[in-house]
Amino acid sequence: MPKCLTLLLYIALVWCCFNNTPAYCLANETDRLALISFKGSIDQDPFGALNSWNDSLHYCDWEGIACSRRHRDRVTKLNLRSQGLVGSLSPHIGNLSFLRIIVLQNNSFHGPVPQEIGRLFRLQTLELSNNSFGGQIPKNLSSCSNLEYLNLIDNHLTGNIPGEIGSLAKLEALGLGVNNLSGTIPLSLTNLSSLSKVSLGECNLHGEIPAEINRLQALRFVQLRNNNLSGKIPSGLFNISTISLLSLSSNKLHGSISFDTGSSTFALTNLQLFLLYSNQFTGMIPTSLSNATGLEKMDLSVNSFTGPMPKDLGKFPRLQFIGVGVNRLQDDFSFISSLTNCTSLKWIEVYSNLLGGSLPDSIANLSSDMSQLSMEDNQVQGSIPSDIGNLVNLTFLYMSSNQLSGPIPETIGEIVLQNYHLHLVT
Ligand SMILES: *[C@@H]1O[C@H](CO)[C@@H](O)[C@H](O)[C@H]1NC(C)=O
Ligand SMILES: *[C@@H]1O[C@H](CO)[C@@H](O)[C@H](O)[C@H]1NC(C)=O
Ligand SMILES: *[C@@H]1O[C@H](CO)[C@@H](O)[C@H](O)[C@H]1NC(C)=O
Ligand SMILES: *[C@@H]1O[C@H](CO)[C@@H](O)[C@H](O)[C@H]1NC(C)=O
Ligand SMILES: *[C@@H]1O[C@H](CO)[C@@H](O)[C@H](O)[C@H]1NC(C)=O
Ligand SMILES: *[C@@H]1O[C@H](CO)[C@@H](O)[C@H](O)[C@H]1NC(C)=O
Ligand SMILES: *[C@@H]1O[C@H](CO)[C@@H](O)[C@H](O)[C@H]1NC(C)=O
Ligand SMILES: *[C@@H]1O[C@H](CO)[C@@H](O)[C@H](O)[C@H]1NC(C)=O
Ligand SMILES: *[C@@H]1O[C@H](CO)[C@@H](O)[C@H](O)[C@H]1NC(C)=O
Ligand SMILES: *[C@@H]1O[C@H](CO)[C@@H](O)[C@H](O)[C@H]1NC(C)=O
Ligand SMILES: *[C@@H]1O[C@H](CO)[C@@H](O)[C@H](O)[C@H]1NC(C)=O
Ligand SMILES: *[C@@H]1O[C@H](CO)[C@@H](O)[C@H](O)[C@H]1NC(C)=O
Repeated sequence: MPKCLTLLLYIALVWCCFNNTPAYCLANETDRLALISFKGSIDQDPFGALNSWNDSLHYCDWEGIACSRRHRDRVTKLNLRSQGLVGSLSPHIGNLSFLRIIVLQNNSFHGPVPQEIGRLFRLQTLELSNNSFGGQIPKNLSSCSNLEYLNLIDNHLTGNIPGEIGSLAKLEALGLGVNNLSGTIPLSLTNLSSLSKVSLGECNLHGEIPAEINRLQALRFVQLRNNNLSGKIPSGLFNISTISLLSLSSNKLHGSISFDTGSSTFALTNLQLFLLYSNQFTGMIPTSLSNATGLEKMDLSVNSFTGPMPKDLGKFPRLQFIGVGVNRLQDDFSFISSLTNCTSLKWIEVYSNLLGGSLPDSIANLSSDMSQLSMEDNQVQGSIPSDIGNLVNLTFLYMSSNQLSGPIPETIGEIVLQNYHLHLVT
């Protein structure tokens, strides 16, 4: 009977092809049917992205589809980025067995990420960010053993990060941020030795950053902001010299990051963005930070750092933003002089610390790009240097809650005229 049925189907197909000769008859029915099912699950297509998905065109010519050269008529790429599509993702996508690339970023897909994607063992890129996918991250994704890029950022996914993800040996980028996840960072992720970008911000994760993270020696971007992570930063993380973005802001991390006297080192020499805002860090800001000569933005605000301002700040020619507000830093304002070599500097926030003494005249030699200086709630004494009027782009100068005396320089009046937002509250 099954043989008979197959024969009948075959005859039907051949008959159909010879009589109507639509383009798809030369092609693989499995792929065509899977694409038709994909289209069938789309409820709204405001820009008509799928208008070309009709019988008068071979499906390899449909918008967003690319096919293999070697295996004719096999779909290798599905790219419908930013098409305003509303609908669910058909599980039939798991039948497109030659797919290497799926890009559905920035649409309005809802419902689950189908488990059937796990059948796509050739898949290298799965880019579903900025949609409304719900449910759990399917464990079956771990069967996509060629996956290099997995991006599910900004969806409505729930549940834990499946430990099975740690078996995707070729994974280079993992983005799960801005979802309604829970649980901890699975230890198995530290097995992903090719991992270069990891983005788990705003995931509602708790627990500690696994100490084994030091095995990820290819890391460049580490985004873990806005979670509920606790414990200390594993010291091995500061040995991964490839890291250029380290964002741990808005967690409950504590302990010191200064290893200047210990056996560990702070060797993040390629650091560009260093963001530890709003945690419970203590101890000094490490002096070896000055090895990171490409630093652009450093935000260590709202912690409990003590000791002096970091030295050698002048070694950061690209530095634009320095934020250390709301800490317990104790120093005079001589660090301002070292900042005059930072010709890109726009923003200095040192408010709510224990900085005392008078402002040096060199404050007027800061970058002419300076737009904000926040020094309120310290112990500044004396008067504001009159040459501060050289900083023509200064828009916000916060000086309240200090011990200033003397007249407000007339030049500030000139800045006020030019930048009417100037907030000088003494
Ligand atoms: C179509 O693809 C399926 C699944 O990969 C395969 O089993 C079948 O042999 C292919 N058919 C043709 C005609 O290539
Ligand atoms: C099929 O798609 C082609 C290409 O977009 C278009 O020119 C044609 O009008 C479409 N045919 C139908 C019946 O929609
Ligand atoms: C997202 O898609 C919309 C169309 O739906 C487009 O207007 C917008 O520019 C896209 N956003 C990005 C960041 O690509
Ligand atoms: C395609 O996938 C669906 C859902 O996974 C399955 O039910 C169906 O049998 C598959 N069709 C073909 C022709 O392989
Ligand atoms: C995300 O999707 C919304 C709605 O389509 C769009 O307005 C927004 O620009 C998208 N953002 C990104 C980063 O793609
Ligand atoms: C998911 O993976 C399991 C184990 O590999 C397998 O048994 C199951 O069939 C897969 N589910 C789908 C829908 O492919
Ligand atoms: C996140 O999930 C929890 C339960 O797991 C639910 O109560 C909450 O409403 C969800 N939040 C969002 C923004 O979806
Ligand atoms: C990491 O990989 C090794 C070797 O492949 C394996 O034995 C171990 O169980 C894995 N660890 C985790 C936490 O998945
Ligand atoms: C963060 O974790 C602490 C316990 O470590 C818990 O008390 C608190 O409710 C959590 N906060 C959030 C926002 O999940
Ligand atoms: C970093 O700078 C310190 C001095 O502050 C120096 O002793 C150390 O060798 C430097 N480390 C690296 C990795 O460059
Ligand atoms: C600024 O740079 C010059 C030239 O590289 C150097 O001689 C000087 O010491 C630097 N000043 C500060 C305050 O770092
Ligand atoms: C001041 O800012 C404007 C725009 O923000 C910029 O075009 C201009 O070059 C800046 N001026 C100086 C002296 O840097």
